[in-house]
Amino acid sequence: ATPTTEYKIKDIALAQYGRDEIAIAETEMPGLMALREEYGSAKPLKGARITGSLHMTIQTAVLIETLIELGAEVRWATCNIFSTQDHAAAAMADRGIPVFAIKGESLADYWDYVGRIFDWASEGDPDLTANMILDDGGDATMFALWGARLEAGEEMPSPANAEEIEMQRALKAFVKAKPGYLTKTVKTVKGVSEETTTGVMRLYQIAKQGKLPFPAINVNDSVTKSKFDNLYGCKESLVDAIRRATDVMLAGKVACVAGYGDVGKGSAASLRDGGARVMVTEIDPICALQAAMDGFEVVSMEEATKRADIFVTATGNEDVITGEHMKAMKHMAIVCNIGHFDSEIQISALDNYEWKEIKEGTDMVTKPDGKSLLVLAKGRLVNLGCATGHPSFVMSASFTNQTLAQIELFTKSDEYENDVYVLPKHLDEKVAALHLEKLGVELTKLSQKQADYIGVPAEGPFKPDHYRY
Ligand code: NAI
Repeated sequence: ATPTTEYKIKDIALAQYGRDEIAIAETEMPGLMALREEYGSAKPLKGARITGSLHMTIQTAVLIETLIELGAEVRWATCNIFSTQDHAAAAMADRGIPVFAIKGESLADYWDYVGRIFDWASEGDPDLTANMILDDGGDATMFALWGARLEAGEEMPSPANAEEIEMQRALKAFVKAKPGYLTKTVKTVKGVSEETTTGVMRLYQIAKQGKLPFPAINVNDSVTKSKFDNLYGCKESLVDAIRRATDVMLAGKVACVAGYGDVGKGSAASLRDGGARVMVTEIDPICALQAAMDGFEVVSMEEATKRADIFVTATGNEDVITGEHMKAMKHMAIVCNIGHFDSEIQISALDNYEWKEIKEGTDMVTKPDGKSLLVLAKGRLVNLGCATGHPSFVMSASFTNQTLAQIELFTKSDEYENDVYVLPKHLDEKVAALHLEKLGVELTKLSQKQADYIGVPAEGPFKPDHYRY
């Protein structure tokens, strides 16, 4: 990496603490460490200039150092204003990585930092741009794509919320300062790998409009990502966040999880394991049936507001908990969101009530009738806002997919159309295989006769693409 003093972090003195925790995380991230072993000398990412936007945590630090070990250069920002672990950011800055991430940064800073991660010209050569994007939620991709569209004379729609106001302000400032640069960036980028459900949804929408200018790999829908990170990750990190934020006794409480997709399944299990009685809301009959048959009561949000003590949104949708719902909730009900954006809960409906910050990430909001709510992480994703996100082990599986996706797009971009792809199944199985030894798993080997009988190669892939796990 280019030596740099170019960074925006909380405190460089936290670097050693970050470094120590990175060392612990490495022992729990066998997939990433195996990729370092496998590709460390071949350096398939040599020449890659990756603009990365993904929660700046300890686990992400191990991802960043893996990408660098494989030859890449990176510029990095977090993808949520509350998710940065300042010691992780400090450790990255300390080793010369341009990183722009501070826990609790303003929305204005957030979008300015997205500009900074695209600004490869700041390293000296005015013609230098990113040639890869690694994204979580799609903000970085949107910034570049909208930049190019602005430069082509297109008007942006009028902003719908504070987020969009700041995004458009930062983008217009960037385009004014460096005319044509984002157009050049978009032309140079070989591809984007996208981490999460919400970002993937945005990519498919753009691809459908025929406006995707480079190929994308949907990392989320690797089985070893969404069926592990979204599920087992939330199973640990949701309750961790609620406990750290509130110290509430979970056992015996009534909780409501909105959405029973992968994140909702993990979240509902997390609360049930904590001793809570859990209700679920769903719009999809298949997921509603799954919830019911997993033993959860499936209700409407109106019904839940009468009975629940704890509310968690996990839909990736908007307006799932409305101002009206919050008016009806019990005194001291806990309200939080584990989906990607803060649009799931209508936090703005609480603007005129009395807010008291109990501590960072925990606000007591008192309604005109005197009843209060505990709002966590101001409605932004609670496990990263009020705790430290998922544990390293499960992030290793996600980030092994991310790294493989970056290698694939950087080295074989020409083999892909400007569309959204998932990694092939043999790589998905490889990611899982890299995580077995750490858990002492003994895998059974198919005999050739057995393989022939079930119609798969003895070395895998073991399932057809339509298999759902
Ligand atoms: P998913 O698509 O598997 O599940 C979402 C579920 O919500 C679906 O079953 C859908 O039918 C349901 N839903 C949609 N609108 C609803 C409504 N109005 N009321 C009730 N249910 C509704 O998506 P997944 O993978 O579970 O992700 C959910 C969100 O969590 C996304 O924004 C994703 O980006 C984010 N995510 C967050 C993580 C974290 O660590 N906090 C980790 C992984 C994903």
